[in-house]
Amino acid sequence: MRLLFLSVWFVVMAAEQPIPYSHKKHVAMGLECKGCHTMPGKGEAATFPAESTCMQCHEAVKKESAAIQKLTAYAKKKEPVPWVRVYKLPEYVWFSHKAHTAKTECARCHGDVGAREVLVKEKPIDMNSCMNCHDEHKASNECNFCHNPA
Ligand code: HEC
Ligand code: HEC
Ligand code: HEC
Ligand code: HEC
Ligand code: HEC
Repeated sequence: MRLLFLSVWFVVMAAEQPIPYSHKKHVAMGLECKGCHTMPGKGEAATFPAESTCMQCHEAVKKESAAIQKLTAYAKKKEPVPWVRVYKLPEYVWFSHKAHTAKTECARCHGDVGAREVLVKEKPIDMNSCMNCHDEHKASNECNFCHNPA
């Protein structure tokens, strides 16, 4: 029952993304997380890759695939693929990727992404999970640290 439930759940989640992108396949090719999630500027956001990054390969690779044709259409229109967000904080929380990835692995907050065909929110990003790790690392848990930074 549990397995059946899980597989239905994964199918539902997979159907949500506009293009069935697989981290498992692409990370297995040796592509690096930060090659696609470049953390520009101050690095608050990890960001999603530009479609031109995908097209470096997909101009030629799998051109016959319907999914790649959809990707190519976005790239031609210079429109970002409308990826459905998996991890999203409310606006009133301050978070910086660059500050965190200096000292912690992506997997700590996002799980073993390179092993996943489809991403789901498998790790919590609620206030308790933030505070527990801040305690562990002796980082601040002052309210303003995350809610109203100077
Ligand atoms: C380094 C080259 C490379 C880059 C960059 C790349 N891909 Fe791929 N992609 C591949 C290869 C090779 C395959 C075929 C993998 C397989 O079938 O095992 C593939 C397969 C796919 C497929 C499955 C197509 C099908 O119908 O089977 C999708 C969808 C896809 N890529 C989307 C993307 C997206 C979106 C990006 C950018 C975020 C991207 N790829 C970036 C090389 C690349
Ligand atoms: C070839 C480009 C590419 C590489 C390499 C890549 N990603 Fe991604 N990543 C994407 C795309 C495209 C999406 C949006 C589709 C999705 O959610 O699966 C995404 C989504 C994500 C998300 C979900 C973000 C959200 O909130 O919606 C996380 C987390 C993530 N990637 C982490 C990683 C990690 C960790 C690695 C390295 C192990 C990695 N990615 C490698 C292209 C890439
Ligand atoms: C300390 C926890 C933590 C670590 C470590 C972490 N992330 Fe995140 N990630 C988050 C949170 C929280 C969000 C939601 C951010 C928001 O909504 O403002 C997020 C969102 C994302 C997104 C969605 C787009 C964006 O920029 O918000 C991507 C992609 C992503 N992370 C990739 C990565 C990659 C790749 C790494 C490793 C290089 C990584 N993350 C390391 C917590 C983390
Ligand atoms: C894996 C452990 C870990 C998790 C989970 C974590 N943090 Fe942190 N965070 C740290 C550490 C360690 C620092 C201190 C970094 C330093 O001193 O350079 C830090 C620093 C920060 C900072 C200061 C950033 C800066 O630019 O100086 C903010 C804001 C923050 N965290 C918010 C959050 C929020 C919000 C969450 C939950 C969504 C979270 N953190 C989850 C370990 C974590
Ligand atoms: C390390 C980061 C961090 C610190 C420190 C922190 N918060 Fe939060 N807080 C969060 C995150 C992340 C959320 C969003 C939770 C979610 O989406 O489930 C949140 C949500 C909240 C909410 C809304 C809760 C709800 O259920 O809607 C309140 C109120 C709040 N925090 C108050 C505080 C107070 C008071 C303090 C100081 C005692 C504090 N926070 C310290 C990260 C933090």
